[in-house]
Amino acid sequence: MTGKGYKGVGMEGAIARWYATNTGKDVARFEEKVDDVRRLARQGGKILEVAPGPGYLSIALARTGDYTVTGLDISETFVRIARDKAAEAGVEVDFRLGNASAMPFDDESFDFIVCTAAFKNFSDPVGALQEMHRVLRPGGCALISDLRKDVSKEAVDEDVARMGVSGLSKVFTRYVLRSVLPRRAYLKSEFEALISHTAFHTYDIQLSPLALDVELRK
Ligand SMILES: C[S@@+](CC[C@H](N)C(=O)[O-])C[C@H]1O[C@@H](n2cnc3c(N)ncnc32)[C@H](O)[C@@H]1O
Repeated sequence: MTGKGYKGVGMEGAIARWYATNTGKDVARFEEKVDDVRRLARQGGKILEVAPGPGYLSIALARTGDYTVTGLDISETFVRIARDKAAEAGVEVDFRLGNASAMPFDDESFDFIVCTAAFKNFSDPVGALQEMHRVLRPGGCALISDLRKDVSKEAVDEDVARMGVSGLSKVFTRYVLRSVLPRRAYLKSEFEALISHTAFHTYDIQLSPLALDVELRK
């Protein structure tokens, strides 16, 4: 595939470092996601995190000792940050540079895929879903969680209050979540339409005030 792989500005340099600092304060978000993954992924399985950014979720999953974890992100800065953070934490995660819609992995390489707060940014969402299908083993599962397009201002404000950010970062995060990201995000019906163009036939989409949680089975 051609093109830059993401919508809008790429998350490199200072933007990536700001994001890593900001989201690093929201430990609860990653702990909750580890619990979700543990409910669905078998012990000893191979997990791929698509678009891990600074790598907090991958590192938390590796820390459980239950999984072999790989991360794939298109940002060079994030891959560097994530590798450093894994080394600091003393855990092994294979953080790779690459595009979600042209993954550098063999067919049926993973038991489980997780992708959080990133899918809306992909410029080729159907291509990314098709790649997830290709690299999952038969019977494997992908869990995609992302902002819902029809998120309310109240749900955003509540989430930002919970994140533990303050000052200008808080104002900026609220603005981006209220006004910028919903334009890229999907409604449940739009996500179903994307899935209909892929080889995934079994799925479930749950809505929370902030997010769509999409579970896909191969
Ligand atoms: C908002 S960050 C989310 C990071 C992390 N998953 C989290 O929950 O905090 C979006 C991530 O998507 C990555 N990304 C965007 N387009 C991508 C693509 N086509 N392939 C792989 N990663 C991509 C960005 O580099 C960035 O790390």
